[in-house]
Amino acid sequence: MGRVAYQPEFLARITERRAALRAELATLLPPSQALVWEIGSGHGHFLVQYAQAFPAKYCVGVDIIRDRLNRSGKKRDRAGLTNCHFLQAEAREFLEALPAGVTLREIWALFPDPWPKKRHHKNRILQADFLEALAGRAGQGTPLYFRTDHTGYFSAVAALIPELKTWRLDPAASWPLEKETVFQARAPAYQSLVAIRTSHPARPAEITAPRPPPRVGPR
Ligand SMILES: C[S@@+](CC[C@H](N)C(=O)[O-])C[C@H]1O[C@@H](n2cnc3c(N)ncnc32)[C@H](O)[C@@H]1O
Repeated sequence: MGRVAYQPEFLARITERRAALRAELATLLPPSQALVWEIGSGHGHFLVQYAQAFPAKYCVGVDIIRDRLNRSGKKRDRAGLTNCHFLQAEAREFLEALPAGVTLREIWALFPDPWPKKRHHKNRILQADFLEALAGRAGQGTPLYFRTDHTGYFSAVAALIPELKTWRLDPAASWPLEKETVFQARAPAYQSLVAIRTSHPARPAEITAPRPPPRVGPR
């Protein structure tokens, strides 16, 4: 398949957005911080409760929808928490923009968009490249908590993890806190799994789309 040609203005906007995110993260995150990261934190129900239950853990939720982040921020403020932050960011861009010393101590993906149509599966966040990129920031033993009401998405991730050297399924792992999220409340049923980061080195992964095309040298 040919490479998609992106408009220069589009690429410039992305580059600018990523630079702004990098700067924001460098200011927000203490150096060498180990984060609890919630991907697609929605209305913030889970993370606010989690940060309250574990005050020593530094929690960051990212979502792409501003209104949800505003609601999350209000919940956090009402609870008077200083260990919980919400940021507007695309998950892959967030991961890429994390300052060098920052690591992930826990990763939460609760009801991530399932993209049910087959031709849209490529848009699902939990895929091999992204899991590899997560592994690059997660120390050995870091848990990834995944919950979904979409059986196809669940089976795909459950089948994928054992194929990766960087993660292993842990059927015995416990779920440290139960707090119903907005999407969980709407789901008639759901499934959960916990994957644990192994000691296998992560391979460098190109995770974010789209990237500026490579520079063309003199011809
Ligand atoms: C189905 S909702 C689940 C929200 C929440 N976790 C819950 O259980 O109620 C998925 C959330 O992920 C966010 N989201 C989707 N794709 C994302 C991405 N690539 N990066 C960050 N957030 C994303 C959406 O805006 C939405 O709030």
